[in-house]
Amino acid sequence: MEKYTLSMRIMHWIMAILIISLLCVGLYIANTEPHDEEWRNILLMHKSFGILALLLVMLRLAIRLGSYVPELPPQINHRDVALHNWTVFFLYVFMFVMPIAGYVMSIAHGNTVEFFGMPLPALIEKNTQVASIAHTIHVNAWYFLIGLIVLHLAGNTKHYIVEKVNLLQRIW
Ligand code: HEM
Ligand code: HEM
Repeated sequence: MEKYTLSMRIMHWIMAILIISLLCVGLYIANTEPHDEEWRNILLMHKSFGILALLLVMLRLAIRLGSYVPELPPQINHRDVALHNWTVFFLYVFMFVMPIAGYVMSIAHGNTVEFFGMPLPALIEKNTQVASIAHTIHVNAWYFLIGLIVLHLAGNTKHYIVEKVNLLQRIW
C-alpha cells in the first residue's frame, strides 16, 4: 500500500497528540473555577502549545502542498473519497481557526501572549468586541474539531471493517 511521505507521517502524529491534548487542557481551563497561580500557569502553557500548533500546521500545510499525497485505494467508493477529502480540508481549516482565534481573543482582551516565555507582538489593537467574537469562535470551534476528529476516526474504522483497507499503514 502507498504511504504518505515520512515528513507528513511525523507531522500527523505530533499534531494529533498536540491537538487532542490542547482540546483536553482547554476544557480544563474553561471548566475550572479557581483562577489561581496553577490555573494561570496551565493557561500560559495552553497558549504556548497553541501557538506551537499554529506554527506546525503552517509547516505541515507547506509540506503537504509540496508532497506526493497518495490516492485512496480503489476499494473505497467515490462518495467516501469525497467525504474523506472534505474532512481533511476542514480539519486543516480548524487547525488554523482554533489557534488564530485564541491569539486574537487574548490580544484583543489586552492580555499578552507568550511563546514559552517569549512575548509575541500584538498584531491587533485592544477591542472588546473583536475579543468577544474571537472568544465565541474559540469556545465553539472545538465542537466542530471534535466532530471532525470523530468523523475522521469513524471513516478510517469503516474502511478497515467494510472494505478491509487498513489506512493506518499509510500514515504510520
Ligand atoms: C490548536 C490550538 C488550540 C486548541 C485546540 C484550543 C482549545 C481550547 C479549548 C477546547 C478551550 C475551552 C473552550 C471552552 O469550552 O470554553 C480553550 C480555551 C482557551 N484557549 Fe485555547 N486552544 C488552542 C490554542 C489557543 C491559543 C493559541 C491561545 C492564545 C494564544 C488560546 C487561549 C485560550 C484561552 C485564553 C482560553 C480560555 C477561554 C475562556 O476563558 O473561556 N488557545 N482552548
Ligand atoms: C488517534 C487519532 C488518529 C488516528 C488513529 C488517525 C488516523 C489517520 C489515518 C489512518 C490517516 C490516513 C488516511 C488516508 O489513508 O488517507 C490519517 C490522515 C489524516 N489525519 Fe488523522 N488520525 C488521528 C488523529 C488526527 C487528528 C487529531 C487530526 C487533526 C486534528 C488528524 C488529521 C489528519 C489529516 C489532516 C489527515 C490527512 C493527511 C494530511 O493531510 O496530513 N488526525 N489519520
